[in-house]
Amino acid sequence: MHDAVEVIVAKRDGAALSDSQIDWVVDAYTRGDVAHEQMSALAMAILLNGMDSREVARWTAAMIASGVRMDFSSLSRPTADKHSTGGVGDKITLPLAPLVAACGVAVPQLSGRGLGHTGGTLDKLESIAGWRADLTDAEMMAQLESVGAVVCAAGGGLAPADKKLYALRDVTGTVEAIPLIASSIMSKKIAEGTGALVLDVKVGTGAFMKDLDRARELAEVMVGLGTDHGVRTVALLTDMSTPLGRTAGNALEVAESVEVLAGGGPADVVELTLALAREMLAGAGVTDVDPAEKLGGGSAMDAWRAMVAAQDGDPDAPLPVAREQHVVTAEADGVLTRLDAMAVGLAAWRLGAGRERQGEPVQAGAGVEWHARPGDTVRAGEPLMTLHTDEPARFERALASLEGGYDVAPAGTAYEPTPLVLDRIG
Ligand code: URA
Repeated sequence: MHDAVEVIVAKRDGAALSDSQIDWVVDAYTRGDVAHEQMSALAMAILLNGMDSREVARWTAAMIASGVRMDFSSLSRPTADKHSTGGVGDKITLPLAPLVAACGVAVPQLSGRGLGHTGGTLDKLESIAGWRADLTDAEMMAQLESVGAVVCAAGGGLAPADKKLYALRDVTGTVEAIPLIASSIMSKKIAEGTGALVLDVKVGTGAFMKDLDRARELAEVMVGLGTDHGVRTVALLTDMSTPLGRTAGNALEVAESVEVLAGGGPADVVELTLALAREMLAGAGVTDVDPAEKLGGGSAMDAWRAMVAAQDGDPDAPLPVAREQHVVTAEADGVLTRLDAMAVGLAAWRLGAGRERQGEPVQAGAGVEWHARPGDTVRAGEPLMTLHTDEPARFERALASLEGGYDVAPAGTAYEPTPLVLDRIG
């Protein structure tokens, strides 16, 4: 038997926690026997003093054991999932899940809602008329068998320890600890029961991890945890200094995803969708299908329509459009050499695409559309970005967050593009 102060003091003084201390504290916190202020002190001690690989593995196992584990072994096809650590304009799940389903692999994707400047996949899909995020386990299984792809809200039974701890970390400055991020993400993904997992670990101004070394460390810890639990896991480290595609905002990103499913869409979104699809298919043992053919050939779009309709959404309904627009124009002729992901993400959030507190509603039509990407030529007076919101009072703060968020260099300035996929771990 342990007590909370003993565990906090051990970590505060730099000791490694024993297996039984970890099992006890995670379980007692989930049950309410360890108080929030005690867990927040422990989270801060973990952030400052770290955890070794045994501790992270045990912490993750304790969080998995706090709830139920799903089991997809009765499905007729293999399963693969993707998790992104969160970025701006990151709509990749929307084209990716139906694309992988069209290639014969089932995608059980339990997603979240956005908090802060990064968007949430469920918020995006909820901009489709009628679509619902909450499915029963039986509905999820049936849809995985019939359509092959499900994107829905994680039920309360999956890693409940993480649900409590993540909300606490969010308000105590303890989100950024690698052991806590890795165990948070991987406990949910392992409990979800996917056979293969591809992690998209974002690096750059718009990501949790601002530099490549920390992103690589996080990826290595997560790949190790997945592999130890029998989930075939790889990670791609991908750039998030520039936002993905051409839009950030809920309905705006659905529209862009539909373009990708129709065989068009921005080149970077297509590139990342295909790179992740290839990893998911390889992890599931499917190596004889080219996902690029499915994007052009219409079967990924068919899977998208079936996936939306199965969750009561109308894939043909017009998407919501914000009531007000504000256009930002280029001040001079030149080349756009930088568009900062954090600045764009903050602007979209302030326009109403995201929420400040859990449970708040979001605006479906709000967000930012950029008409040029780094490397593109721009002309004085021509639109650089369009801001969308239902409430024009929001424009001022959104414009303030874009100040200093992009650079236009004189025409002819050389521009060196950053690769989108920076590294692969696994
Ligand atoms: N996403 C999660 O689910 N958990 C974290 O700790 C960070 C990002």
